This record gives sequence, structure tokens and C-alpha cells, in this order.
Amino acid sequence: MANSIRFFLNGQKQDVAVRPDTTVLEWLRSGPRLTGTKEGCAEGDCGACSVLLGDAGDGEIRYHAANSCIMTMGQIDGRALVTVEGLKGETLHPVQAAMAENGSSQCGFCTPGIVISLAGLAANDAAADDHAIHDALAGNLCRCTGYRPIVEAARKVVGEGGAAIPGPAVAALAALEPAAEIATSGAVFHQPQMLDDLLKLRRDRPGAVLLAGGTDLGVALADFHGDWNEVISTAHVRELRSIEETPTHLGFGAAVTWEEVLARVAPFYPSFATLIRRFGSTQIRSMGTIGGNIGTASPIGDGPPALIALGVEIELASSGDRRTMPLEDFFLDYRKTEMKPDEVIASIRIPKPAVGQEFRVYKISKRYDQDISTVCGAFSIVREGGIVRSARIAFGGMAAIPKRVPEAETALVGKSLDEDAARACAAAIRNALSPLSDWRGSAQYRLTVAANLAERFRRDLSGETVEVMAL
Ligand SMILES: Cc1cc2nc3c(=O)[nH]c(=O)nc-3n(C[C@H](O)[C@H](O)[C@H](O)COP(=O)(O)OP(=O)(O)OC[C@H]3O[C@@H](n4cnc5c(N)ncnc54)[C@H](O)[C@@H]3O)c2cc1C
Ligand code: FES
Ligand code: FES
Repeated sequence: MANSIRFFLNGQKQDVAVRPDTTVLEWLRSGPRLTGTKEGCAEGDCGACSVLLGDAGDGEIRYHAANSCIMTMGQIDGRALVTVEGLKGETLHPVQAAMAENGSSQCGFCTPGIVISLAGLAANDAAADDHAIHDALAGNLCRCTGYRPIVEAARKVVGEGGAAIPGPAVAALAALEPAAEIATSGAVFHQPQMLDDLLKLRRDRPGAVLLAGGTDLGVALADFHGDWNEVISTAHVRELRSIEETPTHLGFGAAVTWEEVLARVAPFYPSFATLIRRFGSTQIRSMGTIGGNIGTASPIGDGPPALIALGVEIELASSGDRRTMPLEDFFLDYRKTEMKPDEVIASIRIPKPAVGQEFRVYKISKRYDQDISTVCGAFSIVREGGIVRSARIAFGGMAAIPKRVPEAETALVGKSLDEDAARACAAAIRNALSPLSDWRGSAQYRLTVAANLAERFRRDLSGETVEVMAL
């Protein structure tokens, strides 16, 4: 058992006896007084608190941007943390220099976060184009400079090479194994490495918080200044971090991040990939996991409608049992699921596309990036000789749970996907669903949009529409 959290901060090894549920932002600003990392929204939205988080693997350290306001100290044990102060060595980091030379900052509040995001991009994507730059900045809000000069500065640096992140040596980081258990200041943080150990902890410590990336749980922690006296982290469980590909399926452990899912799903389901790129921001996708998105059981989560339409099965595991079920059977009622207190979601199996299968998913939100869905509709059909042989249609934001709509599927099966079929499908959607009104959209708006997506799907498949912002 460790009595401190060990990690590298800007290349220097740290051994810090702080409560593991302290946010990284709080510690950075009040401990070592690294105040370049700012607090704006304190809920993962604005990017002012962005830091780089590095993990050793395959002979290198791979860094990604993350929001320190919703990330806890326990989560950085065994990892490398780089703040904006750490980017500058003898000279400015190339992103810092380009931002300064280009007049890309006015009040400067957002600037450290923007520098961090672009430094992460420059280190990871040697071929970054404008789409990649916009993607990297989607989680960073600048209120006064405007993005043109920021993007111009980014263009000068990304793709140029030579913009490595200053951090520890790979071997030094690799040698810093995450502790199985950290106990400091009355709080305990468990980091099992094997599924069996995770399941035993889950059985024996029913009161502990089950934490994956923390992009849902961390918001509540930061907002309500709660205490997590005992946490079980899934972030290092080997089986939950695994990705497998068979001739028929893609299998993801529940602790695989959305950024990792994106890379594997894109060749098979480009429309799903577009949805994932709109999922929060790089910072959120690099921490947030596919299992956490299901486990949180939000009626407006983006993963479930797409995954239900794709016919995904999930595996639930406890120390005595394993069971699989179609994802749509997992959700019972508002935030209520099939999962028992001693279970975890272990894995998610996505079937590869069948011959003749077409899949589209549409996220309707007020902003294109970094926004929660008002409605998310996913359509999957298999056609043979121009006739729809099977269909799966699911929605988020239209009920207390992510919802499959069999009536709308029946309206398409046995028909060619023409205007009449799309109209019948739209009518079935309107009849089957009764959404609520909230500040994101009225029930009437939601019904109209959801039903119209049937026609949008038809037009997309017939080539009448183009994806407006296909990134
Ligand atoms: C700024 C911001 C933007 C966001 N944008 C989007 C968006 O566009 N679309 C969207 O859908 N969501 C969005 N989210 C929500 C969140 O990022 C996702 O739901 C994410 O997938 C959660 O994963 P996580 O690993 O961070 O979960 P955590 O916060 O760690 O956990 C979430 C819940 O799942 C449970 N859980 C985690 N792992 C397991 C497991 N293996 N088995 C059982 N239960 C488990 C936890 O106990 C907890 O109840 C956003 C969040 C923020 C802060
Ligand atoms: S302070 Fe806004 S994202 Fe963290
Ligand atoms: S420079 Fe003021 S918010 Fe970006």
C-alpha cells in the first residue's frame, strides 16, 4: 500500500501525500502554485485548466490533453503531468513562440489551455491539417481574441516536427508502476490491474466509487465539492483496457477511451466516427470511456443510441458470474440499469458491417462541438436487392432511457427506402415516442426533429445530401 501519489510533474518525480480525490487543478494551484493552469468553468467545458497527461508504452510517452478541473490526483498516479510552465525549456515551446509572434492572445486567460491543446496536437499528429487543428481546439474557449490568429499560429507549428513535449525519460516513467492501493489523509484509491481483482474489490467494498475516466463523475465532484473516501479505478485493469478485432466484431474493454474507440471504428462506420469526433472535446474523449458512457445511463448520452442501432452486446461481470445482453436491455428506467451492485461492465462487442448494411447517426445540438445532444438518432438497415431486410433505429433524448423504436423499424422492413417508407418511419417515430420538454428543446421540437431524421437518412443514402461538416 502506498501513502502518497507518485508521478512526474514537468519532468520531475513527485511523491505527494494529498487526498486522492483532490482535483489536479486544485493541487496545482494551491500546492506547487503552478497558476498558469486556470480555472474557468470547473466542469470540463472551457479548457482553461488543460494539462498534458503522458503514459509510457511501446518505447515512447504518448501525451494527450485533459481537463485538470475534473481529474483527481489519484488518476495521475504513475503518469507524467505537464503544465504550461513545463513546456518552456531554455526557449519557448514552438507553440508558445508562434502564439506570441502571431498576436494570438489578448486577455490571455484561455492562452495556457490553448497552448497545451496545440502542443498535444503538434506532438501527436505530424500531419495535422486544419480539421485536426479545429478538433484540437474544440474544447478550448477563447472569449476575446477569436480563433483566426490562434489557428494561424497553430498552422505554423503543427506538421513541422520538432515540437516534442519536455517530460521524463520513457524508462523512468515506465518504471513508475501505478500503486495497487493509495491511502492518504483518510481516503483510499484502488488501482487494480486485473479484472478478478477489480471484481473482488467491487464485491467487498460496495460503498466505493467506481471510477473510469471521471468525465461524468468528476463534474459532480468539482461542482459539489464532494468527498470520495474510497475509489476503485478501472483505468489500469488490463482486460478493461483491451481492444480486439475478429473477422466479425470489434471488442472494446469498458475502460477504452473514446479517442481509442474512434481510431478503430472509423474505417467501418464513418458516421459513428463523425459522432465520436463531436463527443465533448479531445480532452474529454482522451479520458472518457465507452463503458463510462454506458454506465452513467444518461438518456442523452451519445454512445448508446449508436451502439443500440449497431446491435451491440455488452458483458457484465461479477466475481461469481459473467453474462451478456443486448445493450438495449441494459437500460431499465431513468438512470436505472440491469447492473447489480457487485457487477461492472466488462466489454462491448460491436458487429462489423454486414453486406448491404448502411448506418448513420445524427447528433442534434445547439453547437456543433462540445455540446450535449438535444436529440441523437441512429439508423441502421441491411438492404438486399434494394429492399430493406432488417432495420434497427434508436434515439437518445427522446425518453428516460436510450430507446430502440421497433415500430419505426417495421415501417421500413420489406420496402425500398423511398419517400413513402421514410414518411411511414417518421410517423411511427412520432407515435412511439413521448419526450419531455427541457431547456435544450421542447417535446414538440424533439418529436419533429426525430421524425425528420427518417427523411434525412433516406436522402443521405440516396446521395441527395452531403454531410455539412464532415470532419
Ligand atoms: C465537457 C463535457 C462534455 C461531454 N460531452 C459528451 C458528449 O458529447 N456526449 C456524451 O455522450 N457524453 C458527454 N460527456 C459525458 C462523459 O464524458 C461521457 O459519458 C463519458 O463516456 C463518461 O466516461 P468516463 O470514463 O469519464 O465515466 P466516469 O465519469 O468515470 O463514470 C461514469 C459512470 O459510469 C460508471 N462506470 C464507469 N465504468 C464502468 C464500468 N466498467 N462498469 C460499470 N459502470 C461503470 C461510473 O461508476 C459512473 O457511474 C461530456 C462530459 C463533459 C464533462
Ligand atoms: S476549468 Fe473549464 S474545463 Fe476545466
Ligand atoms: S485571449 Fe481572452 S479569452 Fe482568449
